[in-house]
This record gives sequence, C-alpha cells and structure tokens, in this order.
Amino acid sequence: MKRISGGQKKKLSDKKILITTGPTYEKIDPVRFIGNFSSGKMGFAIAEELAENGANVILVSGPTALKTKHTNITRIDVVTAEEMYQASIDNYPDCNGGIMTAAVADFTPLNPEDRKVKRGKENYSIELTPTKDIAASLGKIKAKDQFLIGFALETNDEEFNAKLKLEKKNLDFIVLNSLNDSGAGFQHDTNKISIIGNNGSAKKFELKPKTEVAKDIVDELIQFYEK
Ligand code: CTP
Repeated sequence: MKRISGGQKKKLSDKKILITTGPTYEKIDPVRFIGNFSSGKMGFAIAEELAENGANVILVSGPTALKTKHTNITRIDVVTAEEMYQASIDNYPDCNGGIMTAAVADFTPLNPEDRKVKRGKENYSIELTPTKDIAASLGKIKAKDQFLIGFALETNDEEFNAKLKLEKKNLDFIVLNSLNDSGAGFQHDTNKISIIGNNGSAKKFELKPKTEVAKDIVDELIQFYEK
C-alpha cells in the first residue's frame, strides 16, 4: 500500500481503473475520417485525479494532443472504435472498475476506400455500420466486485436519456452533461455535471474547471467504496 506523507493511506491505492477517453476516428479513405469534437480533457483530468489518489490507471485514449503526467497512468493510444473496444475488453477483467468518458463513434464506414476518393461525383454516400457499444459490453461482463461508470452527453430530455443509458449499460452511476449548459461538454475547460446513481440518487454540481469536476467524480467513487 502506498502512503502519503503523514502516514495516511491513499484512498484508491489498491485499485486499478480503466478509463476510455477522447474521440474515435473512423476511416473513409486514406486521408479522411469520421470523428467528433471530443477533446479528451475530462478523461485525462479523471486519470490524473485517480492517480493522485493512489490508483493505477489504464487510460485508453483516442486521438488527442493531451499528455499524461502521473507515473501511475499507463496509456494505450487507439484510433478507431474497434481498437478502443479491443483494448477495453482486454484490460477490464483485470481492473476494479471502469470509467467510460470516450465519445465513441456509433457508426463506421462499412467499406473504407483504399484510394483517395476523387471529386466530380454528382452524389456521394457512404454506407455506415454500427460500432460496438464498449460500455454496454463491459456492463455485460461486469463482476459483482467491479464498478462501471458512464457519461451521457445530451441535448434534450437529459435526465430521462441518462437514466435509460444507466440501466441499458448496467452502470453504477452515470455522469450527465448537457450541451444546453454554456461552458459544458466538448472542448471546454469547464463542465457542469449531474451524477445519477443506479439507486435513483441525483446530485447536481455547479459549472467548474474539468480538474475540479474530476475531483467530484473521484469523491463519488471513494464514497461508493466506503458504503
Ligand atoms: N459508449 C461506449 N461505446 C459506444 C458508445 C458509447 O462505450 N460505442 C459509452 C460512452 O463512453 C458513454 C456512454 O456510453 O460513457 C454513453 O455514450 P453516449 O454517446 O452519450 O450514448 P450512446 O450510447 O452512444 O447513445 P446515443 O448516441 O444514441 O445517445
């Protein structure tokens, strides 16, 4: 067990935690992809906060310019939803739990082109096929002593949609952020969240820097262990 100065044991020092973060890129042709505006900032902030609390973190990250600082963080860089799924399913069984912050593409081109698509077509459409739901897949294999936390980024009927995802993906709690709140969601350094538990509990937090939001989420996890 690691100890911080003063001899106090860090609260998550015996825990190994998987985090997914960032966007995924789905290839259309050798120079183009389908992606999204996720920066990865929320997941990286949670990884640092967990590591500060003594946890070993496996950070599965989609493409982002962010850097990890803490030596307790092992980073696995991936590009596609399929790669993120594979890294997550391989690592989750060996972890105490997982926090799914990634903005995973829900669809991927069925037949990516080997050559660059040229201009000049009258119409051009790409056939897409669904990707795997990583959180739901981990929810299915979750053991009794493991936890699983998800995120929900919503634009409407926020609480209703978040509760559906909580149930469908077998999560212990879900962190809801709404694109209707200014300063919340993708790209911002701030976020405004609610934490909804699978026992019906709901806590609302103020708009604050993502580093502070990460502390609230990690506190919630520590309380989950102290129950
Ligand atoms: N998620 C995942 N794998 C996917 C899609 C989503 O692990 N292929 C996770 C996200 O990381 C998040 C949660 O599931 O923790 C909810 O993601 P979100 O994009 O809000 O919802 P979806 O399940 O994709 O549903 P929809 O896009 O229809 O709202």
